[in-house]
Amino acid sequence: MKEYDLMVIGAGPGGYRAASYAAAKGLKVVIFEASQLGGTCLNEGCIPTKCYARNAEVMSLMKEAEAFGISNNGFDFHLEIAKSRKDEVLQQLRSGIETLLPHPNITLVRAEARFLDAHTVEACPIGCDSVTPSLDSYTAPSIIIATGSIPKKLHLEAPADGLFLDSRDLLQLNRQPQSLCIIGAGVIGMEFASIFNAFGTQITVVEFLKECLPALDSDIAKRLRKVLEKRGVTFHLQSAVTGIKSEEGAKIVTFTDKKGREQTVEAEQVLMAVGRAPRIFNHFQNAGFDYDARTGIKVDDHFETTVKGIYAIGDCNGRQMLAHAAEWQAKTVVDRIANPHLLSEDLEKDTIAIPAAIFTAPEAACVGKSEDQLKQEDIAYECRKAFYRANGKALAMNETEGMVKLLSKPDAGRIVGCHAYGAHAADLVQEVTALMSCNTTVAQLRDIVHIHPTLSEILLAAAEA
Ligand code: NAI
Repeated sequence: MKEYDLMVIGAGPGGYRAASYAAAKGLKVVIFEASQLGGTCLNEGCIPTKCYARNAEVMSLMKEAEAFGISNNGFDFHLEIAKSRKDEVLQQLRSGIETLLPHPNITLVRAEARFLDAHTVEACPIGCDSVTPSLDSYTAPSIIIATGSIPKKLHLEAPADGLFLDSRDLLQLNRQPQSLCIIGAGVIGMEFASIFNAFGTQITVVEFLKECLPALDSDIAKRLRKVLEKRGVTFHLQSAVTGIKSEEGAKIVTFTDKKGREQTVEAEQVLMAVGRAPRIFNHFQNAGFDYDARTGIKVDDHFETTVKGIYAIGDCNGRQMLAHAAEWQAKTVVDRIANPHLLSEDLEKDTIAIPAAIFTAPEAACVGKSEDQLKQEDIAYECRKAFYRANGKALAMNETEGMVKLLSKPDAGRIVGCHAYGAHAADLVQEVTALMSCNTTVAQLRDIVHIHPTLSEILLAAAEA
């Protein structure tokens, strides 16, 4: 039995951050990974989609070249070349993690970790089944589970396996589809709608709710949808998909629209983007903590499971499926493990604000409460808005579509949220995240000098509105 201070299961952003941070604090760590280093974010999520988002951005700029006085005699797009560029980026980043992990305090085990009991795991060869002999057994007083998530599938009237792609499959295509039907207008659905629309694919989105991006400020979600509609994306909102079938090489998606009528969309490919589920395994029951296939591993506010010393961070606890949230949770948990004598209060940060961004064109981003939430919770607030079209840098860039919504306590008080869409909205929201972490008020923001001319002046304009 090999003994360590900490075992980490999964080397995605949560897991490898936990391992390297713990090792730097002097803990002896073993980290298990059964697939590629970097998890969903690096291999099939954030990074590959951002590579394609950049392709989409370049193509959009080429399309509007005439507006900048540049004659453009047309161009061709080759998805297979875009894919090779993306794969090179992923390989480079994976090598980066490989150089980060070989710390004298870290042992990387390329195998599947399976719980034997609450503090023992066995390492099984990749692709092993229940009868394959294990490689070794490991024990540690502290364990961090960071197993990530998997795409959800709809339960349709007839089985449709093989008739749709998930986001990972779409990123592996070598040939651009002529048409794509996207089921679900959440973050994944909207990012791919924006990217493949720019590539020239005909896009139809079928969404169950009455607006896209349910987690975003509804005003901003609506404006973003309208931008994509103007670019030719078709949306069917309040529509429930009931089936997918194949007919003469094409896929037919059947759905019930908002008036209860049955409708169909024909497309070359179908993307299923109806959410992700925490990745859990049957052997978790040997450890004895509570978990649920739908909601994930149950954790308290310190990300500790119902078994002392076992923690779950990132997508597998179902809290916030964001790479940077997993990294923050990793740091919080390791601080707790490395300093068991610290009081809870010393580790808690009630001012923590986790921002999020959606990399459509234009981008959308948010931090803190939305206006919808403040209304629902009956909290007194002030809302200030500023628009990209009034900003010098945005006009110079020909990026006039966008808005920043700043939410605060009354009388220009503490900032409680910011929701934005427009070019580089994520960078603007990052500034607000820093301000919220320092409990800044709108009145104080007005006194912060912003570089002229920059998009950040839109935030200042919102504060002054
Ligand atoms: P999501 O939960 O954001 O959206 C799923 C959408 O599918 C919802 O709008 C839902 O109403 C819709 N839907 C559900 N059932 C449906 C049906 N029968 N017919 C039509 N529509 C239906 O999930 P998504 O987009 O798959 O993303 C998964 C996770 O990955 C999210 O937690 C997201 O935050 C994360 N992610 C984050 C990114 C970022 O931060 N930029 C990028 C991509 C994913």
